[in-house]
Parts: sequence; C-alpha cells; structure tokens
Amino acid sequence: MRATRLTAAAVLVLSFAPTSALAADLARGAKLYARYCAGCHGPDGQGGAHTFMPHVENLTRKGYIELLPDEYLATVIREGGPAVGKSSYMPAWGGTISDEDIANIVAHIRRLGVR
Ligand code: HEC
Repeated sequence: MRATRLTAAAVLVLSFAPTSALAADLARGAKLYARYCAGCHGPDGQGGAHTFMPHVENLTRKGYIELLPDEYLATVIREGGPAVGKSSYMPAWGGTISDEDIANIVAHIRRLGVR
C-alpha cells in the first residue's frame, strides 16, 4: 500500500517536470524573442540599430548577463525597465507574454550568451 502511494507520488512529480526551467522550450523562446525583442535588442541580442535611443544593453556580454539571476531577467521582461531601475523604453510584457513563455525567452537569452 505504502509503496503504491510512493510510486503514485513519483509519477506525479515526473509528469510536472517538463514545465521546469530545465526543460524550457528553446525553439519557442527564440521565436518569441524574434517577434517581440529583436527589434530593439537585435536578432542576436547584441543591441539594435546604433541610432536607437537610449542605448540598449548587450544581452550577450560576457561577465555580465550570466551574473544576472533568472528572477531578475524574468522581472525586467514581465514588469519593464523601471522595475529594475532601467529605462522605461523597455516595455512590460507581463500582459502579452505568459510566465512560462518568459522563462522560455530567458532560456533563449542565456543561450545567446554562450559564445
Ligand atoms: C522598444 C524597445 C525594446 C523592446 C521591444 C524590448 N526591449 Fe528590452 N530593453 C530595452 C531598453 C531601452 C532597455 C534598458 C537598457 C538599459 O537601461 O541599459 C532594455 C532592457 C532589457 C533587459 C535588462 C538588461 C540589463 O542590462 O539589465 C532585458 C533582460 C531585456 N530588455 C529583455 C527584453 C526581452 C526579452 C524583450 C522581448 C520580450 C525586450 N527586452 C524587448 C528596450 C526594449
């Protein structure tokens, strides 16, 4: 009886695993990034047109992006630049993009930084 219950619990945990950050949907994150973010941040995260004001940070800079926690990246994407003391030209996406897709985009940004 006890073993059966433990097995059921294990199955439950495993069935939730695919939604974890580890299993982020990178293809989906890349697609959403291209649609919503690339216009300002550039297709590869290295900044947009140099005429764009204000200056947009390089999302791939070594020794920088990898030090920012996922939670910080999710917050600035969800709530916009001012939520982390950055420019209000960074829009809040919380009403447009679900938390799950924000996690997918964060995973995509992390991959951009690996160069
Ligand atoms: C209208 C232009 C614009 C769009 C579209 C945009 N951003 Fe931004 N983003 C900015 C600006 C401007 C900043 C602030 C840069 C600064 O202050 O250094 C910023 C900041 C950020 C930061 C924080 C960088 C840091 O150095 O702390 C992240 C992460 C980010 N954007 C991700 C995204 C993602 C993901 C999307 C798409 C969902 C997106 N941005 C769409 C303009 C934009």
